[in-house]
Amino acid sequence: MKEYFKSDEFLIIEEGFEPSYNRVSESVMSLGNGHMGIRGNFEEKYSGDSLSGSYYAGIYYPDKTKVGWWKNGYPEWFAKVLNGINYIGIDVTIKGLELDIAKCDVVDFRRILNMKQGYMERSFVAIDKNNNKTKIVSKRFLSMADSQIATIKYTVIPLNYEGEIILQPYLNGKVVNEDSNYDEYFWEEVDKKADDQVCYLNMETKKLGFRVACTMKYEIYNKTKKIEAQQTKSVCQEGYVANVIKIPVKAGDEITLNKYISAVTNRDYSNEQLEDVSIKEVTKAYDKGYEALLEAHISKWDEKWEENDITIKGDVKAQQGIRFNIFQLNQTYTGDDPRLNIGPKGFTGEKYGGSTYWDTEAYCLPFYLSTAPSKIARNLLIYRYNHLEKAKENARKLGFKGALYPMVTMNGEECHNEWEITFEEIHRNGAIAYAIYNYENYTGDKKYLADYGVEVLVEISRFWADRVNFNKEKDKYMILGVTGPNEYENNVNNNWYTNTIASWTMEYTIKSLDYIKEDHPTIYDKLLTKLELKDHEVDKWKDIISKMYYPYIEDKKVFCQQDGYMDKEQILVKDLPEGNLPINKNWSWDRILRSCFIKQADVLQGIYLFNERYDLDTIKRNFDFYEPRTVHESSLSPCIYSIIASQLGYEKKAYELYLRTARLDIDNYNSDSDDGLHITSMAGTWMSVVYGFGGLRVKDDELCFSPFLPKSWTGYSFRIMFRDSLLSIKVDDTIVIELISGADVMINIFNNKYILTKTNKVEIDNN
Ligand code: BGC
Repeated sequence: MKEYFKSDEFLIIEEGFEPSYNRVSESVMSLGNGHMGIRGNFEEKYSGDSLSGSYYAGIYYPDKTKVGWWKNGYPEWFAKVLNGINYIGIDVTIKGLELDIAKCDVVDFRRILNMKQGYMERSFVAIDKNNNKTKIVSKRFLSMADSQIATIKYTVIPLNYEGEIILQPYLNGKVVNEDSNYDEYFWEEVDKKADDQVCYLNMETKKLGFRVACTMKYEIYNKTKKIEAQQTKSVCQEGYVANVIKIPVKAGDEITLNKYISAVTNRDYSNEQLEDVSIKEVTKAYDKGYEALLEAHISKWDEKWEENDITIKGDVKAQQGIRFNIFQLNQTYTGDDPRLNIGPKGFTGEKYGGSTYWDTEAYCLPFYLSTAPSKIARNLLIYRYNHLEKAKENARKLGFKGALYPMVTMNGEECHNEWEITFEEIHRNGAIAYAIYNYENYTGDKKYLADYGVEVLVEISRFWADRVNFNKEKDKYMILGVTGPNEYENNVNNNWYTNTIASWTMEYTIKSLDYIKEDHPTIYDKLLTKLELKDHEVDKWKDIISKMYYPYIEDKKVFCQQDGYMDKEQILVKDLPEGNLPINKNWSWDRILRSCFIKQADVLQGIYLFNERYDLDTIKRNFDFYEPRTVHESSLSPCIYSIIASQLGYEKKAYELYLRTARLDIDNYNSDSDDGLHITSMAGTWMSVVYGFGGLRVKDDELCFSPFLPKSWTGYSFRIMFRDSLLSIKVDDTIVIELISGADVMINIFNNKYILTKTNKVEIDNN
């Protein structure tokens, strides 16, 4: 596999400009701060191939649905992650010629993502057709300390000429989404202003009226000397504002433009406040100055790394991979706004409308549970609680009782439109129930069930109870016409995972109701009235639990992915001739559907979630059967297999799959990182270290570990929060677990119990 980025523990380094790889680099070099994000696009004009992207959390557009054949139940519109005002732009003119590196010779090109300090840096020398050589150095960040601020330091160094350069920093609201269904333009201008020093632009989305207002200010230096008087003018056009700064230069000058930007939205302020707030914010930033802003930003990143870094010794690629994943997760979601969620592409691309998939509950929640105060994970649950009414409407629309959460959503409404997924990939409902259990189990906050959780559980159980059908002859409940996590087969009957999670949800709902009845009787009575829950409903759930049908492959003693799976021709991935993988790029859809190849963990997803139910032999048989048939063409796949491989002691396999998940985007493994990064699977990467190599589990309120050291590493360490205590875990020749802060914790290592206190760390020989 060709490596485009040099390995380094904290940097992603691209050396030499390869236009055909630009979109991938732009994705990898994306920056974000939870409030907004930008792809690694260039500041100056670039007429080559590029996906320009500036995104604002929670700002979306309901694009009219486009389908081949309309089916009742499809949503009318599809929420698009929206490309908004481009605030990074700085056009450069050198002695009358516009700088465009697609039209120059470019030497010494470097684009670097500094993950330790959260900025992107770029440098190159451009030689234009007049043989003028110009060195450009730029550095930018989206402040973690003040999420509404972005700053760029852009330096132009004429190397062999004198004359005039023009710098034109701008705000451009005339941007488009590449994936717009009807090539529609989504934005309208509300207001703009431009004078010699300050430019302001306010744009509004059509239909929903989201507003984004940006203001910019700038300052110019030659080396360290501020240049006060420039010949400037401003430009004010439809959806576009700019300053035009003319500067006479000679060879060896170093002209630096510091561009300060504020970006505020009417999700946080009223429309009337936007201009005022935006101008005030940028003025504050300008007054602080570039260095002070950078320092505050870096110190926030220091805090983040202190909380959730994973160190790996002896393997730079693995180290770079895990840090890249953690870095991108921290950039995407900071957890302080319960209206937001974690989109599969975060702030790095447009693909996948909507923001919230089952990915959040099944993959991302564990990361936030263990690396942040519990209110952050709780916010992710509250997000779904707040969408419960919409999920009930969605179930009603399809003719069912209870609640069916959407496959993809922005505001609680479904915005996915392929019948085999929208209507059939209903296992997602189970992940939402499981997340409640996961939160309660990890944090010990059982009261959440009474306050919020059980309402969601009851409505999901009602849906399952209505969606099953009873087969009299077999005396079993069946779930027909579904798509399991393996999207390489649709409309199957009795997907083992779906049946398992449906039945488990009902069990957990009953258990939760019993607990509330016992511990919070007053709340229980109120809930019964609010939910109109009757005994006969619960009795029905019990009947379904006891008579659920689970397909099984008798001779192999493994769970059968779905009815009929064994009718397929059984071929292993390793026996596919070269050039077939990835099958989703090389095969027709029909061929994929008929094959035995599995896109992502399906039976294994169930074994991962309900791990304690199965003995090691069962887990091994299922892993040995399904892994060789899995092509891992969803980014969500390798991490789950890696965790189970670790559990089984398949260290080599666990490591191989870890690298695949950790470096998925850096190495463009699935040839699709040009669209944007796979953000949600990054939490899976974290799990494959902490749950996989570290063996973390929470059983009966006890934190358990069973760590091992992958052969190519000399050591690794991670930190986790557990019920407000912060623990550090280091694994090399010894396993050392220390309490960094918070109350004493009872831990279990390889089935031995220890009490961890501030003065008593646990140290075990690991040889
Ligand atoms: C996967 C789904 C996932 C979605 C978004 C698809 O390729 O098959 O399981 O929810 O991507 O990440």
